[in-house]
Amino acid sequence: MAKKVVTDLDLNDKKVLVRVDFNVPMKDGKITNDNRIVAALPTIQYILEQNGKAILFSHLGKVKTEEDKADKSLRPVAERLSELLGKEVKFVPVTRGPELEGAINEMKDGDVILFENTRFEDIDGKKESKNDPELGKYWASLGDVFVNDAFGTAHRAHASNVGIASNLESAAGFLMEKEIKFIGGVVDNPERPLVAILGGAKVSDKIGVIENLIEKADKLLIGGGMAYTFFKAQGKEVGISLLEKDKIDLAKSLLEKAGDKLVLPIDNVVSHEFSNDAPFHTVDSNHIPADEEGLDIGPATVELFTKELQGAKTVVWNGPMGVFEMSNFAKGTIGVCEAIANLDGATTIIGGGDSAAAAMDLGYADKFTHISTGGGASLEYLEGKKLPGVESISDK
Ligand code: 3PG
Repeated sequence: MAKKVVTDLDLNDKKVLVRVDFNVPMKDGKITNDNRIVAALPTIQYILEQNGKAILFSHLGKVKTEEDKADKSLRPVAERLSELLGKEVKFVPVTRGPELEGAINEMKDGDVILFENTRFEDIDGKKESKNDPELGKYWASLGDVFVNDAFGTAHRAHASNVGIASNLESAAGFLMEKEIKFIGGVVDNPERPLVAILGGAKVSDKIGVIENLIEKADKLLIGGGMAYTFFKAQGKEVGISLLEKDKIDLAKSLLEKAGDKLVLPIDNVVSHEFSNDAPFHTVDSNHIPADEEGLDIGPATVELFTKELQGAKTVVWNGPMGVFEMSNFAKGTIGVCEAIANLDGATTIIGGGDSAAAAMDLGYADKFTHISTGGGASLEYLEGKKLPGVESISDK
């Protein structure tokens, strides 16, 4: 059933609780990538335009002990958000109690506050992460309506998303709506042909996605470290490449099931060492030397994958094609990224994580229809699972 969206709510003069995913990477107290904050701006701006009071909250990292709190405060996020919005964002350094309630009572229409990391509630009995019913009820009591814009957290059933939604009328924010449309669209109702490109180191991380997309996609192109377990399943020599021995049988059955839908690399960049300083060369997939490891797809594979992508109406990409952090083994990922970015007339989607970072670093962000802000959430969605954060939003 269709879910309510923020535009279905009357926000005028309302206290609007907004769950965002501001779980951003930080180093020495500084935000190193603010994409998730930028992605939440349309929802926040809309609430303010509608004369609502925006009460924002998020988790940041994992918080198990008092000591963990030291570098897990959302204060730097409030500062960055204030810069991006061009207005004051009051930071409330607690997750409950008179200080928070007082700050909310003082809000005027169009004001924004961000309260402290919801996982600070995890120190005492994992209240946030275990969706403690009292906590969800308490947070719900602080507002008039609830907007869930935290797609990145939608695979978690926590008090700050599912807990609040079970106590208050709720709606998806614009980011959540967009993620459901594009990532959900791939699995539910893609425009065909649908081509999926999957990479990453391990088959075990992507089993669910491969199994689901074998059914759904018209072509499944596989690169990255996990290709070597498939090669082994085909009886090929893989040298000292990454290999998951316990997944060879699974790879065999996936190959059988997929037939010619599944396309593997035809050449590979190999080296004796896992190092950007070691010599490297390209070999075809039938001739991987016994003492070398595959670290990237080769140029013939980039060409093959580019050809397979032509004519696609929907493309979903998740996972790098090689060790793209090392420049000598980044060309496959760059090549695939360019090939997708240059497609005409296709809906192109990146399912979050490393491939999203790669596309952004390469300056291709604007060339994709949608780059997901989810990591685990996009993967679980692509596996065909129901996401509790999405399911708990009120139906239209
Ligand atoms: C993410 O970064 O994938 C989300 O913010 C969820 O974070 P978590 O894995 O710590 O729950």
